[in-house]
Amino acid sequence: MNEAQEKLVERLTEKYKSIDQDVNIHMDGLVWAKQMTYWDYIQTEALLGLQIQRTTLPDEMVFIMYHQINELLFKMILWEMDQVAHTENIVAPKFTKHLDRISRYFDMLSNSFTIMGDGMDIDQYMKFRNTLTPASGFQSAQYRLIEFGSTELINLIDYRFRATIDRNTPYEHAYEHLYWQAAGKDHATGKKNPLLQNFENKYKHFFLGKMEEYNTINLYTKFKSLPEKEKTNKDLINAMRHYDHTVNIGWVMNHYNAAAKYLDSGPKKAEATGGSDWHKYMHPKYQRRIFFPSLWSEEELKNWGVDNLEGYKKL
Ligand code: HEM
Repeated sequence: MNEAQEKLVERLTEKYKSIDQDVNIHMDGLVWAKQMTYWDYIQTEALLGLQIQRTTLPDEMVFIMYHQINELLFKMILWEMDQVAHTENIVAPKFTKHLDRISRYFDMLSNSFTIMGDGMDIDQYMKFRNTLTPASGFQSAQYRLIEFGSTELINLIDYRFRATIDRNTPYEHAYEHLYWQAAGKDHATGKKNPLLQNFENKYKHFFLGKMEEYNTINLYTKFKSLPEKEKTNKDLINAMRHYDHTVNIGWVMNHYNAAAKYLDSGPKKAEATGGSDWHKYMHPKYQRRIFFPSLWSEEELKNWGVDNLEGYKKL
């Protein structure tokens, strides 16, 4: 054994000793370990076995796969977000680094939405969509986690109810007034449609836990509690603005345009599979979801989703 090998055995012995394990047994295990391959590591077979169509229409495959790509990117976004959320005394460069990664992922989703808008035959979409009712991307749990992880709950509350809600409001009450309840609730009767009912049966309990978890460590609260020197860092502020813009205007508008292409096609306009009054619900100028309101000027807030669709101004 050469010196380097001796050092390695020493380190391994230390490692296993610290967890009360016999290093010899682990080294013997290595003798029998399989060679690593790309397909085992990346789990390609499992991944490529997850695309199951409900119809015979080929473009349904485009729809399924693009949604799956979105969910993978959402997972990457949450991965970065949690690294900010769970770092105590975070400094501006690290905060900025993770935000830049998140924005890159979201930019990729916004810029690729034409895969939906231009990548499927309208007549095929109008057929296979009927087999999906009452499901909708609205029921993406990861998308909701991204929202809870990004901002304070008040910024996710429907504008009509904001005055009735503050930091002492129970989570259950806040939950019932989140902006997205509007897509699934009849406001006259309060009755929830199947889109929302099914979503809640599966995730409501989980969401209440996450709302509480992120209450003190979401990106906006983390940013606001930074020391003055970090909070005024220009790169960080621009990264926050980029992220807010790319999610709440860029992605939302690209999504809206793709949806309009199908749902507004033909002489009789189609209803959303989830059943919402989607034109009003999805447009940023009505929805006005803003994660970091204090980082925008009054003028920018006033024109949110109206004339700033192209980009955001760097400070
Ligand atoms: C042709 C493609 C698409 C159409 C026609 C479409 C349509 C819609 C409609 C009408 C809604 C409103 C809720 C409802 O009543 O269903 C919605 C919500 C939503 N969709 Fe899509 N969508 C499409 C693609 C996607 C993709 C690829 C994703 C990625 C995961 C996605 C994610 C979402 C999310 C997260 C919401 C909730 C947004 C919010 O609450 O503001 N959609 N979609």
